[in-house]
Amino acid sequence: GGARSADSKPAERAEQTEGHDMSDIHVVPVPDSMADRAFINDDQYQAMYERSISDPDGFWAEQADIFIDWYEKWTTISEADLPAGRVRWFEGAKLNIAYNCIDRHLPERAEQTAIIWEGDDAADTAHISYQALHDHVCRLANALKARGVKKGDRVCIYMPMIPEAAYAMLACMRIGAIHSVVFGGFSPQSLRDRILDSDCRVLITADEGVRGGRAVPLKANAEEALSDCPNVHTVLTVRRTGNDVAWNPDRDVWYHEITAEQAASCEPEVMDAEDPSFILYTSGSTGKPKGVQHGTAGYLLHAAMTHKYVFDYHDGDIYWCTADVGWITGHSYIVYGPLANGATTLMFEGVPTWPDAGRCWEIVDKHQVNIFYTAPTAIRQLMGQGDDYVTATARASLKLLGTVGEPINPEAWEWYHKVVGDERCPIVDTWWQTETGGIMISPLPGATALKPGSATRPFFGVAPALVDTDGRILTETEASGNLVITSSWPGQIRTVYGDHQRVIDTYYSTYKPYYFTGDGARRDADGYYWITGRVDDVMNVSGHRIGTAEVESALVLHEAVAEAAVVGFPHDVKGEGIYAYVTLMVGNNEDPEALREALVQLVRSEIGPFARPEHIQFAPGLPKTRSGKIMRRILRKIAADDLDNLGDTSTLADPAVVDDLLANRASA
Ligand code: PRX
Repeated sequence: GGARSADSKPAERAEQTEGHDMSDIHVVPVPDSMADRAFINDDQYQAMYERSISDPDGFWAEQADIFIDWYEKWTTISEADLPAGRVRWFEGAKLNIAYNCIDRHLPERAEQTAIIWEGDDAADTAHISYQALHDHVCRLANALKARGVKKGDRVCIYMPMIPEAAYAMLACMRIGAIHSVVFGGFSPQSLRDRILDSDCRVLITADEGVRGGRAVPLKANAEEALSDCPNVHTVLTVRRTGNDVAWNPDRDVWYHEITAEQAASCEPEVMDAEDPSFILYTSGSTGKPKGVQHGTAGYLLHAAMTHKYVFDYHDGDIYWCTADVGWITGHSYIVYGPLANGATTLMFEGVPTWPDAGRCWEIVDKHQVNIFYTAPTAIRQLMGQGDDYVTATARASLKLLGTVGEPINPEAWEWYHKVVGDERCPIVDTWWQTETGGIMISPLPGATALKPGSATRPFFGVAPALVDTDGRILTETEASGNLVITSSWPGQIRTVYGDHQRVIDTYYSTYKPYYFTGDGARRDADGYYWITGRVDDVMNVSGHRIGTAEVESALVLHEAVAEAAVVGFPHDVKGEGIYAYVTLMVGNNEDPEALREALVQLVRSEIGPFARPEHIQFAPGLPKTRSGKIMRRILRKIAADDLDNLGDTSTLADPAVVDDLLANRASA
């Protein structure tokens, strides 16, 4: 891969976004109807927030009693040593996540729908009751046990958006196995790397997924991945499409066959509060994606409490989060948070634009969805298709809208508010990360006046701060800098699977002793946070987090490539697009168009289709300092078409390379 960025320290990049004119900000007050019905109004927010910071242990002990059913209570509430990456919550307590998401609801909710499933084809719909969820999860849990899976074993889940994906996650939780869900859009190579890194020995997948009318060859991908994974002894395959798939009788088992043989009850494993619950791989600024590992009690408490208060979830509400279970949003806000609260959660197999851009709003009407949570990239994409798809539907059931995954531009926010929500529904812009487990900064709909584009104020128990390049906390209310969290919260990352030092290096070394988010932010005069985006070498493409180094590593695999440097550039729909600068081996004379195509294919097959570069520029040289470090600041500006202010290029080893880069811009 390419060399690391050397030129711009994070705070400098955060500050580049300063200077907004705040005078024309449109403030949207809490609607009266919302203030009346919401769990938390502004006075309550202020009081509870204050308490959560001044007496965190007292605060969280109370919440833990409210939100979780325990087999045994804790001996210590919290213990944290951030510079060592050591975080413990509710030590000594015992619980089971699947029990909390299913069993404890059965006396009251056995017949209530837990999961509404909406297939890619609108004719495919299912309602799964809490009792049915229980039975499915127990059968699968017993099947996993029958294949030798025990507490602490890792199980990989590579699934489309079908109910069995949720059953698989909960079945692991029930028996104390640690799941690692790999997004179904990842390539065989990415799947292989993740299986090997956490030594998963069982894989749960499907014959094919279905998205936008097209089949996704999951079992075939798995087959390719597993040729390098000799430790995987069992593959459970859900029959989704019924098309033929390759079969290895020594290893492969049909999901429907093995679960049919099993009992519909399975005693939940009694887990310690700090036992690992799951691993989820995510990209960083260097190296391979890391396996973010979460704990049990703190994670569940954070997911459940934020789900209830941020979405103001009331009994009987129909709640829909459009994320994929392959990402943290799907974990915390399709499965664990909602089910812990006894909610009805909608799971959608398809895509927002198929068969046309009205699909989401038709689903809202069909299932009378009250709460709708999606990503800015989807909003921009649908906005681009015009208002008619929206206004053709009633959307009268909607009460609240949410967004997550990237900064939302005010235009998209206003469209979402006005056209989708008929100016009736507050929008919760929720900032958080794979590593935070749950929502960290967000409006509460009954408490917080909204400003389009701002994630507003911290959730209970979350202590954000802004620091300058030297790690000094900026004490003025109005400030711009790097976003850190100064104290522990329950859903915090516990370790990186197999490499605890990486947690320390990645999150706790840059601005010691704080947790560094990798994001820049601005705080306005009202104390509202405005997330400006990543300040490290992580890109956010349609809400997918991708390391520049990952794409560079894929590109340099090609024999014609000598060196590659990758940056993100502003993209109207995707938020960021990928721009790759590639220097070729001396003497290479391949056709540039064919080579470009081959490189795009390489990235697709190494990472996944969502990581394909938008532009590839061949360059005789990259802008480097005399010590050989690539100056990414210049590459970012050229990619962004921000050519007036390239900054000082006199320190470059060869300033002439910039002229060539400018003359041959790929997007020009
Ligand atoms: O840059 C921030 C952006 O997404 C990053 C986290 O990505 P990931 O771990 O994949 O989790 C995404 C879903 C929680 C953050 O570092 N991000 C997430 N939410 C927002 C956001 N940026 C601005 N506003 C948000 N609401």
